[in-house]
Amino acid sequence: MLEARYGLGLYVSRGITLVRGAGAYVWDSDGRRYLDCTAAYGVASLGHCHPAVVEAISQQAATLIACSGSFGNDQRAQLYADLMTVLPYGLTRVFFCNSGAEANEAALKFARLTTGRHGVVAAQRGFHGRTAGALTATWEPKYREPFEPLLPGFTYIPYNDEAALDAAITDEIGAVILEVVQGEGGVRPGTTAFLHRAQQLCRERGALLILDEVQSGFGRTGTFFACEAVGIEPDILTMAKGIASGFPMGAVALGERVAKLSPGQHGTTFGGGPLACAAARATVRVLKETNLPAQVERLSGLFFERLRAIPSHRIREVRGRGYMIGIELTEPAAPYIAAAQERGLLVLNAGVNVIRLLPPLVLTEEDITLATMILKEILR
Ligand SMILES: Cc1ncc(COP(=O)(O)O)c(C=O)c1O
Repeated sequence: MLEARYGLGLYVSRGITLVRGAGAYVWDSDGRRYLDCTAAYGVASLGHCHPAVVEAISQQAATLIACSGSFGNDQRAQLYADLMTVLPYGLTRVFFCNSGAEANEAALKFARLTTGRHGVVAAQRGFHGRTAGALTATWEPKYREPFEPLLPGFTYIPYNDEAALDAAITDEIGAVILEVVQGEGGVRPGTTAFLHRAQQLCRERGALLILDEVQSGFGRTGTFFACEAVGIEPDILTMAKGIASGFPMGAVALGERVAKLSPGQHGTTFGGGPLACAAARATVRVLKETNLPAQVERLSGLFFERLRAIPSHRIREVRGRGYMIGIELTEPAAPYIAAAQERGLLVLNAGVNVIRLLPPLVLTEEDITLATMILKEILR
């Protein structure tokens, strides 16, 4: 009630109030339990309230909560070192911010500074956030058009279309920004050939390749970063969502083709704060120690197999990679998403017809059995 009264109504309410979470489950204010295959928009990568993250945040909260970028900080320093052990080859410097949109905003600025060109190639159905630059890179006209004029010089090519990419990267283009697996746009994996071509053309023509791994990063697709599985090395990699298991954080990693930056060229008050860094350090440590990406790779195979075996004329296609799963229906997904919630399973949409699952990476085989059973029941 209070939220409806004082909020802006920017989110269609799901009608329940979540008050507690543990692992892959959340509980509402009436004590009902739900298997959370939304992970709070793909954020709770280690599951809700993972003990290592709770411990790291609690300890850090009692030690130092705020520290600006003008001062060194032990947590930030250690997180740089930790990230260097997991980032794709060639990425050697990192900027910390607070969200995915901010990470992409920074990436676009860094690319412009480096190349002196303001042209950007983005993909149709791509999603990169809601701030001005990130929104310009986002394709969906209903998100973008009410706010035009946005940034000049953006071209949107069909995703996975190598010829269109080739034609679009002119000598005015400073950056190509792509998701490795499109999330919001319907859960569509990029082909290896397309992503390799993007890397090759960027190098040949003096543009920078920005990979947006805000949703696909930190183990979600079965490797630490989704680009590892396709064997490409971006010039800029953007991260957020799962990086700190729910604590707000974004980051941008830069390779050698990106210019050195000088003081004042970019900045943020909260970015790289001790609490976020402590939560991210715990996340990276647990991901590595338990090899969760490998578990995602293994169990998601089983999940896909079971979902594809659901006998339903309502399912057009089940696609995705790891725990980015899209079930495209032949009709609108909203009633089925509501029906799943009624039965104790939280899922998302991606566009009108796609049911999207972004579960915590700690999902067990029993959880997969439960999710499949509910989906089978409602899609029958
Ligand atoms: C691929 C991708 N990039 C960027 C964003 C924006 O991130 P944020 O909502 O943290 O600004 C999202 C959010 O869904 C995303 O999926």
